[in-house]
Amino acid sequence: MPIEPHDVAEQFARRYAQPPQAVIRAPGRVNLIGEHTDYNDGFVLPLAIDRAIWIALRPRDDRRVAVHSIDYDESREFALDGMTDEKAGWIEYLKATAWSLQQAGLRLAGWEGVLMGDVPLGAGLSSSAALEIAAARAFAKVSNLDWNPAAMAKLGQRAENQWIGVNCGIMDQLISAAGQADHALLIDCRSLETQAVPFPAGTAVVVLDTATRRGLVDSAYNERPSQCEAAAEFFKVPALRDVGLEAFQDHASELDSITARRALHVITENDRTLRAVEAMRRGEVCALGVLMNKSHESLRDDYEVSSDALNAMVESAQAHDACYGARMTGAGFGGCAVALIDAEAAEDFVEKTAADYQQETGNTPAVYVCRATDGASVVEVQ
Ligand code: GLA
Repeated sequence: MPIEPHDVAEQFARRYAQPPQAVIRAPGRVNLIGEHTDYNDGFVLPLAIDRAIWIALRPRDDRRVAVHSIDYDESREFALDGMTDEKAGWIEYLKATAWSLQQAGLRLAGWEGVLMGDVPLGAGLSSSAALEIAAARAFAKVSNLDWNPAAMAKLGQRAENQWIGVNCGIMDQLISAAGQADHALLIDCRSLETQAVPFPAGTAVVVLDTATRRGLVDSAYNERPSQCEAAAEFFKVPALRDVGLEAFQDHASELDSITARRALHVITENDRTLRAVEAMRRGEVCALGVLMNKSHESLRDDYEVSSDALNAMVESAQAHDACYGARMTGAGFGGCAVALIDAEAAEDFVEKTAADYQQETGNTPAVYVCRATDGASVVEVQ
């Protein structure tokens, strides 16, 4: 069962013997298509999911932030002045966000409270971005700041890039801040314009967690943006978003083969993402599924960010009759896949795909239908 606002409020009340002043929710995400395109100024199509990071808080007037993590059963504290990176685990994401907001000239107030979540860590469902956006929403609430989802997402991304050290794009923070219930969000990662795209009737989105993990900082993630930059430089454009398939093909042989394959993925993935939006709007679920399958092949063969476990999971999903399409989702190297399926057969799909994957790999997966939810908010407690 997903966490409910009153669960978080209750945890707060246990520690502080009074109700919280506010409860904050910031969701994780799953990306339907448009992978590794965001830092190329391209297009992505994620949805915010019904798994989130939650904070219940009350303001403090001494410019300190004190947080108890229910999941880690750990309390941490920091001052808003003179922060330094102590590589102290989960609290660094809150410090990183405070640093980024203050760097942007925002005047922050302190607060104290509890933190909990049900976004699995390191699974490719953006637990880090959800934590940054939850922190930003908390600071905005106690400091009376305007909540502009795109601007806050940018500051969350900056926290991740500069404090945490992962050169991620804007997708995860923006979908956590700006998601819309029952819709995927087409994001133009250059203009940050978004368009909500409804799911075709009778479909369900399934998250398939391989139960394998790979840390983002130490993985080859940071290598990919540099390879893409090199390709964009070669084509003398600001980002790979600006290279069409024909122009690429005319000159691909002049690039080294790795750079060429990285660029080919990004260029074709942008095109697939825009076509996926058209297919979704027309209710063409089979066409949408084919694009998802092709995206996986491209990530596996050209971008080389999949893994044996992800490939096994995607193949198990694709083998089921109810599956329109499946692919790895998020950064890759482990974590989750996503499938679009016929909602009527969801139970059978979940059971059989999990069993098939487990038999194939020996790993015990977590497979579940997810719902598209709204982005970060201050939630009413009933
Ligand atoms: C991670 C990053 C995102 C994006 C995806 C890959 O989730 O945080 O910015 O690059 O990988 O699409």
